[in-house]
Amino acid sequence: MKVSVLGCGTMGKGIAQVFATYGNSVVAYDSLSKALEKAPSDIGASLDRLAKKDPEKFDKQQILPRITFTGNLEEIRGSDLVIEAVFERVEEKTALLRKVSDIIDDRCMLATNTSSISINKLASAVRNPGRFLGMHFFNPVPVMKLVELVKGEHTDEAILKKAYSISESIEKSPVISKDFPGFISNRILMPLIREAIAVYEEGIATPQDIDKTLRLGMNHPMGPLELADFVGLDVVYDVLKVLYDEYGEPRFKPPITLRNMVNSGKLGRKSGEGFYKY
Ligand code: 3HC
Repeated sequence: MKVSVLGCGTMGKGIAQVFATYGNSVVAYDSLSKALEKAPSDIGASLDRLAKKDPEKFDKQQILPRITFTGNLEEIRGSDLVIEAVFERVEEKTALLRKVSDIIDDRCMLATNTSSISINKLASAVRNPGRFLGMHFFNPVPVMKLVELVKGEHTDEAILKKAYSISESIEKSPVISKDFPGFISNRILMPLIREAIAVYEEGIATPQDIDKTLRLGMNHPMGPLELADFVGLDVVYDVLKVLYDEYGEPRFKPPITLRNMVNSGKLGRKSGEGFYKY
């Protein structure tokens, strides 16, 4: 297949890498040249880590040449599948999806990696909403097995099935969700992180002990505060805001501590500080 991935951030790079690993020809698009310059070496580094276990399967000399990095959106023409993975902002996503709709042909499947925006809302910007759905990947994409497929009101059943088999072809394991805020994953994960922040805010325990509780008591690979730092505190804050706006329930209310951390530039791992220093 020819697969185009829009956005060379953490998620876009991971999605491009995975499709290229399984033999697809990939176009990785970003409007920012800085992101494009960095992407090949980041993907190469991730492949190097995976190659330690299976050098043949994750040979970067074979995989990297399958990816064309470009700032020219026209290069997505002729794609079988386009996955949008740009910033989690409605205006940015809808503007891009509109442009994409003018370039791709009718047989192309279009997906968004949104973690919180309504598929039905984004579908209004798409020319062919029957071929549009959510394909929500998880960070780090090359390692995490899950893909959450989100069916909009207009998504054709056949397209959902196709997305399911495409996910399996890249060795991911899909689940299917209706278009409800947070889908399955973030509806469950975000209140957990929110409650962990509340335990910290109330002075009940240190971040270390909160995380240790979930790691050693419940076998989570990361505690909720470590995970929040890993996902990005700005992302957690934005997703909680969407959930709170939509459901109006206190269990989704973004904590003030989180707001203050985000406003002061403490975004977790990517900024060097969150609940921990990196
Ligand atoms: N690329 C390639 N390989 C990677 C990698 C990457 N980016 N990150 C980790 N790995 C590999 C390592 O090389 C290592 O391989 P090995 O077993 O062969 O040695 C293996 O994964 C484990 O990594 P580490 O030994 O470095 O560290 P950990 O054992 O702590 O694992 C982790 C790291 C996989 C990130 C693990 O801590 C984990 O699963 N954490 C939870 C992640 C999670 O929940 N993600 C979902 C976030 S929610 C989301 O994305 C949705 C959004 O909408 C909010």
